[in-house]
Amino acid sequence: MLFKQQALLRQKLFVLGSLAIGSVLYLVARVGTLDRLQPICPIESRLPPPDPEQIPLRTLQFKRGLLHELRKGNATKEQIRLHNLVQQLPRAIIIGVRKGGTRALLEMLNLHPAVVKASQEIHFFDNDQNYARGIDWYRGKMPFSFPHQITIEKSPAYFITEEVPERIFKMNSSIKLLIIVREPTTRAVSDYTQVLEGKERKNKTYHKFEKLAIDTNTCEVNTKYKAVRTSIYTKHLERWLKYFPVEQFHIVDGDRLITDPLPELQLVERFLNLPSRISQYNLYFNATRGFYCLRFNIVFNKCLAGSKGRIHPDVDPSVVTKLQKFFHPFNQKFYQITGRTFNWP
Ligand code: A3P
Repeated sequence: MLFKQQALLRQKLFVLGSLAIGSVLYLVARVGTLDRLQPICPIESRLPPPDPEQIPLRTLQFKRGLLHELRKGNATKEQIRLHNLVQQLPRAIIIGVRKGGTRALLEMLNLHPAVVKASQEIHFFDNDQNYARGIDWYRGKMPFSFPHQITIEKSPAYFITEEVPERIFKMNSSIKLLIIVREPTTRAVSDYTQVLEGKERKNKTYHKFEKLAIDTNTCEVNTKYKAVRTSIYTKHLERWLKYFPVEQFHIVDGDRLITDPLPELQLVERFLNLPSRISQYNLYFNATRGFYCLRFNIVFNKCLAGSKGRIHPDVDPSVVTKLQKFFHPFNQKFYQITGRTFNWP
């Protein structure tokens, strides 16, 4: 009898022991894999925004009407006071990347009733003269908005300018930062195309892209060429990460914003803690333009200016391949840091 009870006890202890060891081994393995595989800040796992009812939103039409009046300069001081309108510092900034689709992103976010955009690039943090004018000058450049709305500005030069992260941090260390990126070689060619067009407008000649992007002495990628340097996203981001944690950044896929903007915008709404208000109704594909355009309501819609969506020059395929190979390791690092992976070559 006693022997039977001892055997039963031994059996139970063995099962419990195995379970405990199994759980410990599982946890060790899991933490190890997570460390290696999980992105630092997985996009899809971010918390959904709070209950939309908690954020009071005026109707889109009301916002448009009033802001239109303000832009025309018809709004009186009385109206501004009556509606409690204020010029607010941005709570989110599109810091770059140049030619990533920064204008399209800003205009599309402005479809949201809780978002108000600063129409012009303000260049407050990257331009020493502007920065010396002080924060009230910057605030004065902001549009009027209701207190519950958030103001967004975009200045793509911020991303690559050395002094900017510290300056923005000093203004608001918890600000939300948006970075829109495109496949780095395509972005570099787009950057080149913009400069080329500027030269042509002034009847000036300009080098071919291949000549600028490849160092003729070494036949290697010319890292002194600004359009190449700007596309090394991880280098710039690492500078920003000295000031802001990775959770304060949201990476927008600029290539997907061109072909299918709504899901990208919904991710941004979530990042900004806004209820999802931009819908397919607000975006329609314009075949003549070859891009999505914006629909605010039945009467008001608009496409981006013709300077957005230029035709790129043909680039020697061997140069394209060389650039893609060059960017590859930087891209891998960028994916690792941001938790957003792209199908870039
Ligand atoms: P390309 O001119 O190379 O096509 P930015 O505003 O940062 O200068 O970016 C310009 C890029 O935005 C354009 O690059 C274009 O491809 C892209 N873009 C994205 N969505 C667009 C849209 N709906 N309309 C026009 N251009 C758009």
